[in-house]
Amino acid sequence: MTGKIEDLLRRVEEFHPRTAAELEEFRIRILGKKGELTALMEEFKTVAPELKRELGQKLNNLKQTATQRINLLRSKMQEEAAANAAKIDDPTRPGSAGSLGSRHPISLVKNQIVEIFSRLGYTVADGPEIEDDWHVFSALNFPPEHPARDMQDTFFIEKNPDILLRTHTSSIQVRTMERQKPPIRVICPGRVFRNEAISYRAHCIFHQIEGLYIDEGVSFGDLKQSLLYFAKELFGEQTAIRMRPSYFPFTEPSAEVDVSCNLCGGKGCPVCKGTGWLEILGCGMVDPNVLESCGIDPLKYSGFAFGMGIERIAMLKYGVGDLRLYFENDVRFLHQFDSALD
Ligand code: DAH
Repeated sequence: MTGKIEDLLRRVEEFHPRTAAELEEFRIRILGKKGELTALMEEFKTVAPELKRELGQKLNNLKQTATQRINLLRSKMQEEAAANAAKIDDPTRPGSAGSLGSRHPISLVKNQIVEIFSRLGYTVADGPEIEDDWHVFSALNFPPEHPARDMQDTFFIEKNPDILLRTHTSSIQVRTMERQKPPIRVICPGRVFRNEAISYRAHCIFHQIEGLYIDEGVSFGDLKQSLLYFAKELFGEQTAIRMRPSYFPFTEPSAEVDVSCNLCGGKGCPVCKGTGWLEILGCGMVDPNVLESCGIDPLKYSGFAFGMGIERIAMLKYGVGDLRLYFENDVRFLHQFDSALD
């Protein structure tokens, strides 16, 4: 009988229930009316008197241990259940709002520019970032010895035939003209790549927006009026523009466009370097050679093109002094655009 008592004592001490039901089942099996302990008590009645003292003590000890252990396990389980119940939130409580991100300033400005030109009937066109020589240079009338084709400006992926990262979005002009017959009116935003040392005013990756309008009888006057409308919409009604003669291989005549400095109102300040004007884009009438390269008859059609850097416009619009901020994804910078319109 000693062996039976010790065996039961060991099972009681090693018992670890996972559920309250398991614990209750155990209690009934040990302490219940038909339980193992009750059966031992019955057996105890039949043992020899000289053994009664020792076995009686062992049985009492077993009963006490089993009762205490079962009570302890039960109260532990009840405590755990109460703690878990407290963890479940009030399901009717209003949810806490997740913090919203902000749109990147480059996207904000790009969207504004696209929206302004879409009011003039332009649609968005796209093209690949990995290009060939034809679409970035040759079709755009770049002579073979032009410095922009140099390794120092262009990231080449393969040589002969040349595969490269586009250095400007003018490649999308070519792709659009090859694909579409006039009238053509497209605005082409995109990422461009140049082998430049990174500084506060230069980066090897940046963004441009290209515009192209081809139809019968398109004039330089149309170009000037479209750009004036654009500048006033973007920088405010008081904005003036001026055009300075320039050179691009793909336009003839070519011009650079300045807007009146919106910080000093044209009086001259550090941002406009005292001139009252800020350069924002290049433009011109599409060179007849380019039209011809793209399968458009230059005797029948004419058109204009323009191209601008989005980072530069965003710098002027938001007073950002260092180009690198656009690429570092520092949330202290990005969160300043939380309330900007998109
Ligand atoms: N592609 C020129 C550049 O990257 C910008 C440009 C100038 C685009 C004049 C044009 C244009 O379409 O007419 O600097």
